[in-house]
Amino acid sequence: MSDWRVPGFTSTGSKRPDALFGAATPDEVEGLPTRLTRASGCRVWDANGREYTDYVMALGAVALGYGHPEVNRAAEQAMAAGVVGPLPPVIEEELAEVLAMRIPWLERVRFLKTGAEAVAAAVRLARVATGRDRVLGCGYHGWLDWCQAGEGVPAGTRALYAEIPFNDVEASRRLIRDAGDRLAAVVVEPVVVIEPTHEWLETVRVETTRAGAVLVFDEIKTAFRLAIGGAAERYGVRPDLAVLGKALANGFPLAVVGGRADVMAGSARTWISSTLATEAVALAAARATLEVMVRDDVCGHLHRMGTRLLHGLHRLHRKHADLVTGVGGIAEMCFLHFASDQVSADVARGCAGRGLLFKRTAYNFVSLAHDEAIVDRTLNVLEEVLGSIG
Ligand SMILES: Cc1ncc(COP(=O)(O)O)c(C=O)c1O
Repeated sequence: MSDWRVPGFTSTGSKRPDALFGAATPDEVEGLPTRLTRASGCRVWDANGREYTDYVMALGAVALGYGHPEVNRAAEQAMAAGVVGPLPPVIEEELAEVLAMRIPWLERVRFLKTGAEAVAAAVRLARVATGRDRVLGCGYHGWLDWCQAGEGVPAGTRALYAEIPFNDVEASRRLIRDAGDRLAAVVVEPVVVIEPTHEWLETVRVETTRAGAVLVFDEIKTAFRLAIGGAAERYGVRPDLAVLGKALANGFPLAVVGGRADVMAGSARTWISSTLATEAVALAAARATLEVMVRDDVCGHLHRMGTRLLHGLHRLHRKHADLVTGVGGIAEMCFLHFASDQVSADVARGCAGRGLLFKRTAYNFVSLAHDEAIVDRTLNVLEEVLGSIG
């Protein structure tokens, strides 16, 4: 796989054949779906013209189904109107307004293109607001330097960042208190493999305030999925800043950093700006997505379909306990824990061979296009594949 013009096979790490199927060599990749030609609803077609039912859903970036007609129509109109121009488009402020109506704690927002950019902007704004530099995080926050480690990341940058353990009340309290008056922000993904306990979310909220730091909810995966306002809405805990992305524009590139007006006001004292942050196609797609989300109670549908899927996964766990060691996630984003990497690869490949793209690691996502019959067929395929391996 080393001769590709795009090193690593593709620019999105989680779409690599190795990530999806545990396939790294050309021999292993042979016959597997590796490149896409088309996607519609919850169906996708690979370069060999084969059709699959999909649960990767663009890594959670699509909740209405691929190519949703109303979103596409809005995007086409924005394209016909010129995409970009010398001035910010009217729709930028309009979208900020409708987001604030639906998610009241987004008093002010800025738009960016990727989740990683938006979380980095939240961290910058927290540093501006507090005049401090330490950051505690929990979960995945993208590829940028502030939260990464290893080659290419300056040690001095890394030294400003540490992790708090998900759902561990005592350790989180201690780490926040230890960071004390050097702490600028606590950035948490509110769901990491399992649901957060209310006690943990409350502890993080209270301790962050006590430390005089900014609490950021990284809702890149959870907003527009658990609820329109994400985990903050579902669990009733308010962050100072929230970061949204992925399903926000149903696959068009857009992310948001937003929250308390006083913290967001710091954007006047630092430089957060991107040439194409205000292109109108993704902004229009996001507004159309939000309309469909509200009108069709999409999060309710995701919860119902996801619950049906999750129950089925638990049945598979009980029946094939030698291969499946547990079920991870919540209804809206779930996966199976497998006995080994090899088993997970065998299952993912077996599913692909039967027309199903089902992630072997976190997470599988349902969409508005998944119905009960599709979920039941999916569970039958998984059952057949596990039966053929066991
Ligand atoms: C919770 C969370 N934060 C940040 C990111 C980074 O977003 P992006 O890949 O759009 O930069 C992701 C991506 O998976 C994510 O899941």
